Amino acid sequence: MKIEKLQKLLEDMSLEEKVGQMVQIPGAMMKKGGIITGPTESFELTPNILQMVGSVLGINGAEELRTIQKEYMEKHPHHIPLLFMRDIINGSETIFPIPLAQGCTFSPKTVEECARFAAREATARGLHITFSPMLDLVRDARWGRVMESPGEDSFLNAQMGKAMVRGYQGDTDTVGKGHMGSCIKHFAGYGAPEGGRDYDAVELSERTFREEYLEAYREAVKEGSAMVMTSFNTIDRIPATANEWLMRTVLRDEMGFNGVLISDWGAVDQLINHGVAKDSREAAKFAIRAGVDIDMVSNAYMKYLAELVKSGEVEENLVDEAVMRILKLKNDLGLFENPYKDGTKEAEERMIRCEEHLQCARKAAAESFVLLKNEKALPLSAAAQESLAFIGPYVDEKMLYGGWSYPMHPEKTITIREGASRKKSNIIYAKGTYVLEQGQHTTNGITQNYVQDEVKEMLADAMEAARSADKIVMFLGEHAKQSGEGASKVRIRIPENQMDLLRKIYQINKNIVTVIFSGRPVEVSEIAAMSKAVLMAWMPGSEGGNAIADVLFGEAEPGGRLSMTMPRSVGQVPVYYSRLSTGRPNPEGRTGGGINGYLDETLIPLYPFGYGLTYTDFRYSQVELDRDVMHGEDVITAKVTVQNTGDTVGTETVQLYIQDLIGSVARPVKQLRGFQKVHLNPGESKDVSFTIQEEMLRFYDIHMQYVSEPGEFYAYIGPNSDTENKRMFQLTE
Ligand code: BGC
Ligand code: BGC
Repeated sequence: MKIEKLQKLLEDMSLEEKVGQMVQIPGAMMKKGGIITGPTESFELTPNILQMVGSVLGINGAEELRTIQKEYMEKHPHHIPLLFMRDIINGSETIFPIPLAQGCTFSPKTVEECARFAAREATARGLHITFSPMLDLVRDARWGRVMESPGEDSFLNAQMGKAMVRGYQGDTDTVGKGHMGSCIKHFAGYGAPEGGRDYDAVELSERTFREEYLEAYREAVKEGSAMVMTSFNTIDRIPATANEWLMRTVLRDEMGFNGVLISDWGAVDQLINHGVAKDSREAAKFAIRAGVDIDMVSNAYMKYLAELVKSGEVEENLVDEAVMRILKLKNDLGLFENPYKDGTKEAEERMIRCEEHLQCARKAAAESFVLLKNEKALPLSAAAQESLAFIGPYVDEKMLYGGWSYPMHPEKTITIREGASRKKSNIIYAKGTYVLEQGQHTTNGITQNYVQDEVKEMLADAMEAARSADKIVMFLGEHAKQSGEGASKVRIRIPENQMDLLRKIYQINKNIVTVIFSGRPVEVSEIAAMSKAVLMAWMPGSEGGNAIADVLFGEAEPGGRLSMTMPRSVGQVPVYYSRLSTGRPNPEGRTGGGINGYLDETLIPLYPFGYGLTYTDFRYSQVELDRDVMHGEDVITAKVTVQNTGDTVGTETVQLYIQDLIGSVARPVKQLRGFQKVHLNPGESKDVSFTIQEEMLRFYDIHMQYVSEPGEFYAYIGPNSDTENKRMFQLTE
């Protein structure tokens, strides 16, 4: 539809109709069978809203959405189609690794492909928009939602965010076939709640907020994301959903976002709980003034927006602007021509869990696994002589996917046992214990009740298996529902019953490899001390068992590098590599008084950001620069030669970090500014070079101007954020 026709349509709509476009309700309220993802106790549908509401969330299925759309459009005064939205976070039916694990791939290409395939399946199921990517910067593993983010680093998150937006939306201006609109969330700063407590206040300096926390959202906006979602938190004491500075000045004026802004679930009414709005009516007023176009599941717009316009408290043109953006989005999705978009039974049958998508899930999972330790214990041999026992509650686990995964066929998840038995037939399997401790809770209300006979039997089987095998692989981890929304924890350890199992096994047989499942960095010091090799598998998705078997038996490499620092202890969080220099630096991490650090623990985390081993070894040459002075538009090429010094083919993730030695404000000790993968045969070397440009040196200076400052810099190139392989260069006026 032409823009003039949209304008005409808007002029023709009644105020109630316009307000309807700005309201989103759970699809489950329209039709049975949908999923309600947040609380609805206080939500009351007003009469007429079912005929007027502009979008729904949480339902899918081609046939069902067709029926809903058809019936709805017939009754709607202007026959405007509904928008169907849902949380397609790491896949629709084919489940890919969780976003935190996707961050570990350091491969925007892989991440884009996962998003593209997720969109194909989701659009076949009739959906138009996904509430993804989540680009909240995360540095505190107590927060359960770290699993939904690509990680702790603004540069990495920006690359991943752009890749996801491209994958979902395609690279054309409108959203074409097999693609869907993306929604960047949660704007802004939601990843830094105090104490890691979900929904808590965020206290950040404007400089850190702008420079680090906004970076990934900013880049994803530039990539053209159709939507942005507000966050639940306050920032500078103002709830994001009522924050005019954040939404109008920063998001719209500075970042240039001109798509649709939606609140998070119930966030408009929650302005009352925050203590800034006295009632729902006032909440609606604050949210529309801040520029929120769609109110997701609260009563505020539905009940009070029309009244606020009539009383003159809200200017009608604010409503018109919002509705125009929503209509334009529907138009960009082609819904006026084809309200069902790509949802057909035929497309569902062709797309859902097709071979191409499953292969991608398998490959992406292997690329996300991080090998933390390996004393020649991996890869395993598939030869019959080596007897293996696979022990732990994860050997038969189907819940290998994180929150927001709603596969239609969870029973089709490839388990460890299924994946491994395709490689080697004589492995002994034993669960040993349950995933959870007796009485432990998860977010979906699961509480483990121990059946004592079963407990004894599981343990006895595991001990027997440990005695008889040459080598043991332990499969341990958090429950899939111990991370995600509302899953903050003060202990970032895997359940204690599993640690007990490991300790008992270790008494019998010390030849142990451990594979860990988790939606967050967990404390693994004790596990690492008892294991000859440790593989971090996160929540790997539909093909988890196959991918793990591929990596354990050396048919695929463990491709991941940590996208979040692994602390030694929860007491070290928040922890991240790009810290500011302090007045009393402590690079060796000494314990004791008078220095930056702790009395009872080193300052140094267990495994740094960017870290991950491979099945071979690499040697780096010293960093070489083609020039060491940069002036004006000059660029510097920084180069290393990387050699595979081991006897296995391998892929190294080469990382460029930059440090600004003196600034008008304190600068991070190092910042990631580039990464590349290089594939090398045994003995082979290749040059890897990065271009350093002036704009990579910019930051918010003492006057809050985004500029670079002349002076000295280090360019580091190495295998992770701990690298000391560096060369100095200068930026001159
Ligand atoms: C979450 C969002 C999600 C929304 C809709 C909220 O509780 O914070 O991330 O997109 O629900 O399901
Ligand atoms: C302490 C100050 C103290 C000063 C002189 C510093 O190390 O931080 O509190 O007054 O020493 O003793």
